[in-house]
Amino acid sequence: MSKLIIGASRGIGLELVRQLTQRGDDVIAAVRSSNAELDATGADIHTGVDVTRHDSLHELADKLGNQPLEWLLVVAGVMSKQRLGQLDQDAVDGIRQQFETNALGPLMAAEALSPWLAPGGKLGILTSRMGSLADNTSGNSYGYRMSKAAVNMAGVSLAHDLQEREIAVALLHPGWVRTDMTRHDGLIDPEESAAGIIQRMDALTLDQTGRFWHAPKGEPLPW
Ligand SMILES: NC(=O)c1ccc[n+]([C@@H]2O[C@H](COP(=O)([O-])OP(=O)(O)OC[C@H]3O[C@@H](n4cnc5c(N)ncnc54)[C@H](OP(=O)(O)O)[C@@H]3O)[C@@H](O)[C@H]2O)c1
Repeated sequence: MSKLIIGASRGIGLELVRQLTQRGDDVIAAVRSSNAELDATGADIHTGVDVTRHDSLHELADKLGNQPLEWLLVVAGVMSKQRLGQLDQDAVDGIRQQFETNALGPLMAAEALSPWLAPGGKLGILTSRMGSLADNTSGNSYGYRMSKAAVNMAGVSLAHDLQEREIAVALLHPGWVRTDMTRHDGLIDPEESAAGIIQRMDALTLDQTGRFWHAPKGEPLPW
């Protein structure tokens, strides 16, 4: 069975595709557009997939035909910063874009593609500890924090709704990772982050569904 990764063109998503294909898994990589690095992984690549365009997610589902999925991993995400005192129209547009991508995107991907998950399949959503209410000790980053808190809530509802089909859901914080998103600042490289995510997904069972994980550390995070 295949593992579908959405948002695989660079950063953590690309590294997930690399590591999964290298260990011999059957990987489908869904991206807005591909590049030489992704092409080189040998994954089955689907372009034109944008998590904010629901039609593109349903088109991808149609292309899967009757191919069942073992994992659906939604990695796509964006980050921009909005500060109190500077919440002008541009800031509002930025907050809305983060909601569309980070919160609605994974939910609509689950709507379109979870029917392809086989019983015992797994849904992983890349979230962030910046979406944790308990862990917010520094404020700021309104759109990113709000959108990741929202996707955490969506993930818990998905865990309940998919339980009957024996599909386990994990909300995965990837660590603070050196990618384009962090301007290559961070504590770990995508290699370590992706390895932790794969380990967490491999180990995920139905009795742990709906939990919020620090994936590379393998520890639960507070909501
Ligand atoms: N890096 C960190 O420290 C960190 C920490 C916590 C959480 N995360 C989360 O981890 C995930 C991956 O982050 P990253 O660091 O790898 O970021 P990244 O290097 O900026 O990569 C983001 C990926 O998301 C894709 N994407 C963005 N908007 C999309 C859309 N509308 N439709 C489809 N794909 C879209 C991008 O594709 P394009 O190339 O087409 O733009 C790219 O492949 C994100 O959800 C992020 O919020 C990252």
